[in-house]
Amino acid sequence: MDHFDYRDGVLHGEDVDLTSVAEAFGTPCYVYSKATLARHFRAYTEALGGHPHLICYAVKANANLAVLGLLARLGAGFDIVSVGELERVLVAGGDPAKVVFSGVAKQENEMARALEVGIKCFNVESRAELERLDAVARGLGKVASVSLRVNPDVDAGTHPYISTGLKDNKFGIPVDEAFEVYRQAAGMDNVRVAGLDCHIGSQLTELSPFLDALDRLLALLEQLRDAGIEVEHLDLGGGLGVPYQDENPPQPFDYATSLLERLSRWPGSERLTLLFEPGRSIAANAGVLLTRVEFLKPGETKNFAIVDAAMNDLIRPALYQAWQAILPVDTRQPRETDTYDVVGPVCETGDFLGKQRRLAIAAGDLLAVRSAGAYGFVMASNYNSRPRPPEVMVDGDRMHLVRRRERLEDLWAGETTLPDDAMAGG
Ligand code: LLP
Repeated sequence: MDHFDYRDGVLHGEDVDLTSVAEAFGTPCYVYSKATLARHFRAYTEALGGHPHLICYAVKANANLAVLGLLARLGAGFDIVSVGELERVLVAGGDPAKVVFSGVAKQENEMARALEVGIKCFNVESRAELERLDAVARGLGKVASVSLRVNPDVDAGTHPYISTGLKDNKFGIPVDEAFEVYRQAAGMDNVRVAGLDCHIGSQLTELSPFLDALDRLLALLEQLRDAGIEVEHLDLGGGLGVPYQDENPPQPFDYATSLLERLSRWPGSERLTLLFEPGRSIAANAGVLLTRVEFLKPGETKNFAIVDAAMNDLIRPALYQAWQAILPVDTRQPRETDTYDVVGPVCETGDFLGKQRRLAIAAGDLLAVRSAGAYGFVMASNYNSRPRPPEVMVDGDRMHLVRRRERLEDLWAGETTLPDDAMAGG
């Protein structure tokens, strides 16, 4: 459930009329609901009840400082994939001791900074990375806590670009090699085995792949235990899907209940802390992208609604053919309904936000693209020299600008023209 609803024909985010957000900050504009973010986060913590757990929100889904700060205050840990994400977490007031570091190619400087601030765990994705981490930790006189990210070779049944747990994906250590790599880790002086990790993909709408992955991890844990290698936590990654259209993904409660049930058959499981790295299921439906219709352009074979947001602002439809609901914000004026491709101003045929949508709209109307709180702003670019949109967080009847609209001069702030002498040759 989220907090974006129509009241008297006008779409609201919590108690804020979204037309007033557009008036205050212009369009395109991202709007997040604080209550929805908090609700989605608590769905996880409540579902896990008394079982030891840590919810490490996947920063990549929405890295705005206001989002991170809110979740930090609610007790969240964070899953990061770069030193940039780490610094964001620290600036937002997150606790480094609750940070896990994922990603296939952590740089030495990134490892060093994470060791310096004392993160909870590195999710190591290869033998080479383990060796690099041991060396970096040795250089700093530190011991790095590690989990190996195991690739359990299960089909997550999701879009191929966001499926990560199959053998032919670049992620993780193949499950049958993991035991040997654990043995190597256990023998290293500057590495401490802390956990076992996997992440099999994103936007999963069924429980069975998660349970299959868990079974494979438990078999490995058994083998490790027999070899005298104990782990303190099991990190099951993120991946729980959200309803974009008519999907009916499991709720965090169903997800956690089935996992806990499966886990309870494993001796000693009550001492195993469960970590999750949810991103989308916390942030996606906590956000919308507001955009204004510039022109309605009737065509011979189809009609276009040309809006002021584009693929550079929200790339999911163009990149994954993702479907996101598009709603008129103010439905009080009578309008004729027609079928439109909702497209942006960018010079690409792939620049669309939605295709074949039935909409009752006129030029100048405000639209909301739903489910835009995750993998929205974070994937935005400046393509076509378009400044990135502002981000606003609504909270009850208040709205807070949590990132201002980029200015044109921000776009070239790091650039220079060639010096005159370099131009001499023409
Ligand atoms: N942990 C790891 C190691 C991950 O790679 C990811 C997402 C997550 C956690 C969070 O997964 P979530 O709970 O959000 O499904 N840009 C794509 C999604 C890419 C997901 C990448 N990894 C999209 O817009 O659909």
